[in-house]
Amino acid sequence: MAMAALKSPTVAAVEVLPRLVSRLCPAAFAQVSLAFPVRFTGLRPSQYDHTLAAPIPFDSNKKRSSFSTIAPAKAEIRVKALHPAEVGLTKASEAVVPQISVSASDSDVSEWKGDILIVGVFEGGFGKDVNGIFETAALKKIDDALGGIFGEIVVDEDFSGKPGQSTSARVSERGFKRVGFVGLGKPKTVSSKTWKSLGESIASIVKPAQAKTVAVVVANPPDLSSEAKKLAASAIASGTILGVFEDTRFKSESKKPVLENLDIVGLGSDAATAEKLDQTLKVSTGVIFAKQLVNAPPNVLIPSVLADEAENLTANYSDVLTIKILDEDTCKELKMGSYLGVAAASTNPPKFIHIQYKPPTGEVKTRLAIVGKGLTFDSGGYNLKTGPGSMIELMKFDMGGAAATIGAAKAVAEVKPSGVEVNFIVAACENMISGGGMRPGDILTASNGKTIEVNNTDAEGRLTLADALVYTCNLKVDKIVDLATLTGACIIALGNDIGGMFTPNDALAEELTSASQAAGEKLWRMPMEESYWEMMKSGIADMVNTGGRPGGSITASLFLKQFVDENIPWAHLDIAGPVWSNEKKSATGFAVATLLNWVVKHSS
Ligand code: BES
Ligand code: MN
Ligand code: ZN
Repeated sequence: MAMAALKSPTVAAVEVLPRLVSRLCPAAFAQVSLAFPVRFTGLRPSQYDHTLAAPIPFDSNKKRSSFSTIAPAKAEIRVKALHPAEVGLTKASEAVVPQISVSASDSDVSEWKGDILIVGVFEGGFGKDVNGIFETAALKKIDDALGGIFGEIVVDEDFSGKPGQSTSARVSERGFKRVGFVGLGKPKTVSSKTWKSLGESIASIVKPAQAKTVAVVVANPPDLSSEAKKLAASAIASGTILGVFEDTRFKSESKKPVLENLDIVGLGSDAATAEKLDQTLKVSTGVIFAKQLVNAPPNVLIPSVLADEAENLTANYSDVLTIKILDEDTCKELKMGSYLGVAAASTNPPKFIHIQYKPPTGEVKTRLAIVGKGLTFDSGGYNLKTGPGSMIELMKFDMGGAAATIGAAKAVAEVKPSGVEVNFIVAACENMISGGGMRPGDILTASNGKTIEVNNTDAEGRLTLADALVYTCNLKVDKIVDLATLTGACIIALGNDIGGMFTPNDALAEELTSASQAAGEKLWRMPMEESYWEMMKSGIADMVNTGGRPGGSITASLFLKQFVDENIPWAHLDIAGPVWSNEKKSATGFAVATLLNWVVKHSS
């Protein structure tokens, strides 16, 4: 019985279960353990009416937050407040999110039946003598049965297993219709990137083929520990899911992803692998959410819509999440002059978002905070971003830190770690230009009383983070991580794939480094050179907000440090580079997986 051999699927989406059961022997699915519904509502229109705008009260049917202590805002007149759909009449259509069940097994792949079998191949050692590639007995068996077609494909296509190489061909008279080969590079350079790219290649092969069921196996695997196999399976799964996902909300026609089932063969089938894959699927919902938030255009995703999305999220996870949204007046009461200075020019009012995660049961031992820069658009202000290098047309991604923060809230709410409280904070606003806007030369007063001479209105992210960090320190949390698309200088230093990490705390640096390595995301620690503070001195105020071009991301981090309580371990992640993929013309969801790992490390 062919499929019965592929036992113990470890993770399965409830939605596809009926189809799977009809396809497979029901007994083989006795161990299906996880329901994994992916919920995303899509962006909703703003709460604001054209002339008279007041925050609409929470839907009374929704479970209300007990944590909300701030009084409801007074009605406010905003004559020019725009409904986001008014600029260009755009509305997001329903989001289409892939719902893929993933299983891991160590069974005989030669018995596998489905649409496409993907074979990962490490480079080297086989030259033109391809017989040596298919070391695993099962693949040899398939190849023999197909009359040595694997070898032919590999030779014809000059496939040598180099990273990124991939080819596929139709086969007949087997349990599957197509076989694909994906190059994995040299075995000694194997890393989580290798496996994530394999997942992405799987997605690019299955998409045009409209495949529903795919299995993946490695032809010539190096020796891997069971821990390494588990991480490999996880990275393949997340690469595939995120590769299959296409954000079509703003296209007039949307395609539904067809892939339903991914079988990972030969990388372990134990309970730990099952648990890891379960977590991977949960995290990927947070990554996809973050991507959607960043991809949404700035005429749609204005601060109030970001707040709506956060509120929606907490309503969907009301067992563990609560939310508090502070409006402009409340922020004024809290003396957040630095944040409000940035928000001043916009007709769309700022929204200060605070989501709190508490575990469903048990005592909280550690209280964490994640703070994200939430500029839904950064024009630069009076220091307008001009010229092609300024990337003004991409500045919707300037809320990438906020998206990572809110995406992490979703991932944490899915995974539900015990013993840890997490506060997710975003001071959302737009950096625009108007007669009421902040000028270069203005002095702002932050909520800790410090004064800032704004010598450049385009260094606005740090001004919003200043008040967000003061607010966060007042929560008396144990540790803080902030994330921000803060400086172009960080892209110059580290390129597009690596985030800059700034922290005076070695232990926290290590925690984040290992969390990011396990997530397959790259961070590089940068120096917080205190002597550079000289560049940030003002003749008239406590500090200026920019110190010129040299060490631009370092002076930015020294600025943030002015607003953090010395006794609270704090790290700043500059994600200006990795937030966006120029090749894919899309957000990456960078840092969600790292943050989830970091939070889970604190669970007890
Ligand atoms: N959001 C930008 C940083 C940025 C620039 C991210 C390009 C990604 C790509 C930030 O608000 C900014 O404008 N920073 C200035 C700071 C400068 C005025 C000291 C920058 O990096 O140019
Ligand atoms: Mn800016
Ligand atoms: Zn910015």
